Amino acid sequence: MFKIVHKERLAPHINLFEIEAPRIAKHAKPGQFVVIRLHERGERIPLTIADTNPQKGTITIVAQEVGKTTYELGTYEAGQYLLDVLGPLGQPSHIDKFGTVVMIGGGVGVAEIYPVARAMKKAGNYVISILGFRTKELVFWEDKLRSVSDEVIVTTNDGSYGMKGFTTHALKKLIDEGRKIDLVHAVGPTIMMKFVAELTKPHGIKTIVSLNPIMVDATGMCGVCRVTVGGDIKFACVDGPEFDGHEVDFDELMRRLDYYKDLEKLSFEKWKRERGMV
Ligand SMILES: Cc1cc2nc3c(=O)[nH]c(=O)nc-3n(C[C@H](O)[C@H](O)[C@H](O)COP(=O)(O)OP(=O)(O)OC[C@H]3O[C@@H](n4cnc5c(N)ncnc54)[C@H](O)[C@@H]3O)c2cc1C
Ligand code: FES
Repeated sequence: MFKIVHKERLAPHINLFEIEAPRIAKHAKPGQFVVIRLHERGERIPLTIADTNPQKGTITIVAQEVGKTTYELGTYEAGQYLLDVLGPLGQPSHIDKFGTVVMIGGGVGVAEIYPVARAMKKAGNYVISILGFRTKELVFWEDKLRSVSDEVIVTTNDGSYGMKGFTTHALKKLIDEGRKIDLVHAVGPTIMMKFVAELTKPHGIKTIVSLNPIMVDATGMCGVCRVTVGGDIKFACVDGPEFDGHEVDFDELMRRLDYYKDLEKLSFEKWKRERGMV
């Protein structure tokens, strides 16, 4: 059992949990994730390790409410326990001195790029972070990203805060201005990562994306998380989740993410009915 020591609502439908998990806190590296299970009847879902505090023995996860399990997680409060937290899982991000690194986070992806941005900065890179949100009220962790970046550009789709448009618009502006970019690292909705990769490819800018396929065991035993990268089949949980964005078959990934849509809807409706929410 893993105790929640702190919970915070960062924005509507985005919850932060600091969880007591000393072993994971000690071993986790930027880019890695955990698999959690709330209770005995729960499913396993993957969530990125957004921060660690090895002294305190805690890890931080930030989860967006999108369906049954993440909504149920959103009802958990400090003092409650998660049944299983497995990790750290996946390959750590490749951190090196690249030069200028553009970190792009879309929505909850902003929390996921934080530990990578911090490590990139520490390795001596010039870090430009582009944080993309749908609208102003969803903006979070701007200050936290500022503390590990040389420049921060916030975009909102509706222009209610920062630059109007998508993260790709901010990236295109940097490219058009002739800024020197040695690496782009993008985490967010699959469609965002696809467009980031399409934008950088003709310019030959190396682009790393963190893929989010459906996972079950997340230890390489089943292949549910398989993705096609450079024509080869890879298991995102053990070979990734980070891959070269120019090599990923994003359309296949998006088709596979939709595979259980009807069952996910059924399970969420049932959960809401049981709580008198509909
Ligand atoms: C390596 C990795 C890291 C992730 N990190 C984060 C994170 O830090 N914060 C965050 O909010 N989300 C993260 N996700 C996505 C998160 O796992 C899904 O949002 C969650 O599983 C949805 O479960 P649900 O029951 O609430 O929603 P559902 O209604 O079951 O599903 C909603 C959508 O989420 C996706 N999904 C469903 N089940 C899974 C599963 N077992 N594994 C992966 N995706 C699934 C599908 O695309 C589905 O259409 C990550 C995914 C991966 C693979
Ligand atoms: S989730 Fe089973 S192999 Fe990756």
